[in-house]
Amino acid sequence: MTAGTEGRTTRRRIALLPGDGIGVDVTREAVKVLEAVASELALELRLDSFDYGAERYLRTGETLPDPALEQLRAYDAIFMGAFGDPRVPDMRHARDILLGTRFKLDLYINLRPVRCLHERLCPLRGFSAADIDFVVLRENTEGAYVGIGGIFKQGTPDEVAVQEDVNTRKGVERILRAAFELAVRQGRRRVTMADKSNALRFGHDLWQRTFAAVAAEYPAIESNHLYIDALAMQLIKNPAQFDVIVTCNMFGDIVTDLGAQLQGGLGVAASGNIHPGSTSMFEPVHGSAPKYAGTDRASPLAAILAAAMMLEHLGIGEAAACIERAVVECLAAAECTADLGGTLGTRATGDAVARRVRAVRG
Ligand code: IPM
Ligand code: MN
Repeated sequence: MTAGTEGRTTRRRIALLPGDGIGVDVTREAVKVLEAVASELALELRLDSFDYGAERYLRTGETLPDPALEQLRAYDAIFMGAFGDPRVPDMRHARDILLGTRFKLDLYINLRPVRCLHERLCPLRGFSAADIDFVVLRENTEGAYVGIGGIFKQGTPDEVAVQEDVNTRKGVERILRAAFELAVRQGRRRVTMADKSNALRFGHDLWQRTFAAVAAEYPAIESNHLYIDALAMQLIKNPAQFDVIVTCNMFGDIVTDLGAQLQGGLGVAASGNIHPGSTSMFEPVHGSAPKYAGTDRASPLAAILAAAMMLEHLGIGEAAACIERAVVECLAAAECTADLGGTLGTRATGDAVARRVRAVRG
């Protein structure tokens, strides 16, 4: 539904979890931009904040209790800043909140676009920004992240640690299918699947066989396979060859930090944790960077682009496009933080995007 259509108003309810460190700083700016686009396009966005994070965990021992998750599930979407605090060295709360949301809401697609939005941000000699434009789909609910395993004889010289890598036919098939569906929807030519089936013979053999079966259903989309180590090399050697990359949870984690650098750094890398048709979660790829918390130095653009992804997912593509255009204009005018070649602080960058969101509409 578009704003103004048949005189109806577009209403969406969004749960905000700013979290820790710079998560708070960048979420504030994302909210600023969401409010700007809502007023421009006459959207009714209700934004409710929740204080789950390190502070609350240290105070109450609560990370993300089940009733809270049920409360979040009732929203149209969830926006998270970042989690991580030096006072919680084992990251217990971050794991519970972030991975808990991904797993318990079954957000099986971790969508991480890698698009270099300005020439200045392109880090590779011999390539231009236009060469870096692909999407990574990271499996987000299984693999080495499931938390199955244990420690035996802890603290002795004979200590054994087992961490299982779980791959299910259902889980693998649905992320592979999502990759091909995205290729069709976005008019992309090729899907590349990366695994380590030359060494991980069981789990990644399942990826191989399932990929062959799903690819056969999409004859119009080219498909190819690379071992994950070769993919890492090719991403630097020639990123222009990639359109859609699909891989498992752990490899996707690693490859998307590499991808973040290809598009200008963590200051611009956005992430969607998606289950099509149900409440999904959006966040910047970066962490809480405690040493920059409250210093007005962190780039809010990754969070702002994640907010745009969220609006796209909520069927308000016009609002998403408006924000993306404003971000591209800001980068072109160097209205951004130092990591992206500008001189502005976090707040002034948010202001600049919000101003351009208003100007874009004239
Ligand atoms: C990410 C992060 C998380 C992950 C951490 C914080 C558990 O690195 O979203 O990429 O590994 O998924
Ligand atoms: Mn990561």
